[in-house]
Amino acid sequence: MKDLLSVCDIQGEVEYILELAEKIKHGEIEDKPLEGKTLAMIFQKSSTRTRVSFDVGMYQLGGRGIFLSSQDLQMGRGEPISDTAKVLSRFVDGIMIRATKHRDVEELSKYATVPVISGLTDLEHPCQALADVLTIKEHFGDLKGRKLTFVGDGNNVCNSLLLIAPMLEMDMAVACPKNYIPNKEILKKAKKIAEKNNCEIIVTSDKQEALKDTDIVYTDVWVSMGDEKEELQRKKDFMPYQVNNELMNLANSNAIFMHCLPAIRGEEVTSDVIDGSQSVVFDQAENRLHAQKAILYYYLK
Ligand code: CP
Ligand code: NVA
Repeated sequence: MKDLLSVCDIQGEVEYILELAEKIKHGEIEDKPLEGKTLAMIFQKSSTRTRVSFDVGMYQLGGRGIFLSSQDLQMGRGEPISDTAKVLSRFVDGIMIRATKHRDVEELSKYATVPVISGLTDLEHPCQALADVLTIKEHFGDLKGRKLTFVGDGNNVCNSLLLIAPMLEMDMAVACPKNYIPNKEILKKAKKIAEKNNCEIIVTSDKQEALKDTDIVYTDVWVSMGDEKEELQRKKDFMPYQVNNELMNLANSNAIFMHCLPAIRGEEVTSDVIDGSQSVVFDQAENRLHAQKAILYYYLK
């Protein structure tokens, strides 16, 4: 198990990594476990949370991160990903990459001889999903039997949640317009895991059905990086799925609101919800650091 490209890569290990993240967060690990180790961090897209949390995480574990914008790398001028993978593997102990195309990350992983960790692609965002379940566990004290409802675009963030939720025996619903359902392959895998673990996955355009008895209401931007050309159409299609107080009232009264951030207030979520008492978005953002330190420890130690 060398790489983390999909939540599927840590199937069977999620609970262990979560416990590790809790230990790390509470200072219960040895000092500088990654002393002398280096992580190359390739970014083909913008980032605040992923970039800073990986960089700070490496530093706090005693190692260092090297930020590499793909535009500045020779990769940006056409050097093959395979050569980049082989060369970086001679210098560093791990490679983190945020890429436009998931298949580019698969190509990198094929040729790299050090662990490759995805920091988001068009298909998945596994590190985000780990931080999210850590946040849910901290808030409710448990995960099993909880229901998470993702409202909006069946995108990369939604795909990773669909995989991680049933692994932890959580139910998950996706409320989305018909043209924006999650990736079919992911959905198939998620349903298989759910069946094995006795939990439920539903995808529906009916908000009421999706939000019934839900503990967690989760949304993400309507226009992900790379979808900018569809901006106008998307804003029209997703407006009925805006997370506002009326929508929050369809969930349990003690439900929490989550968002991977960055958020656009007035689009996918209203200010009163994201800045209100049910929102845990900044605890969730902080947990990117703790969850990723656990991932780094697990993959690089
Ligand atoms: N949630 C997340 O991945 O944020 P960034 O795009 O800022 O890294
Ligand atoms: N779905 C968003 C997530 C950003 C963290 C995107 O891909 O742009």
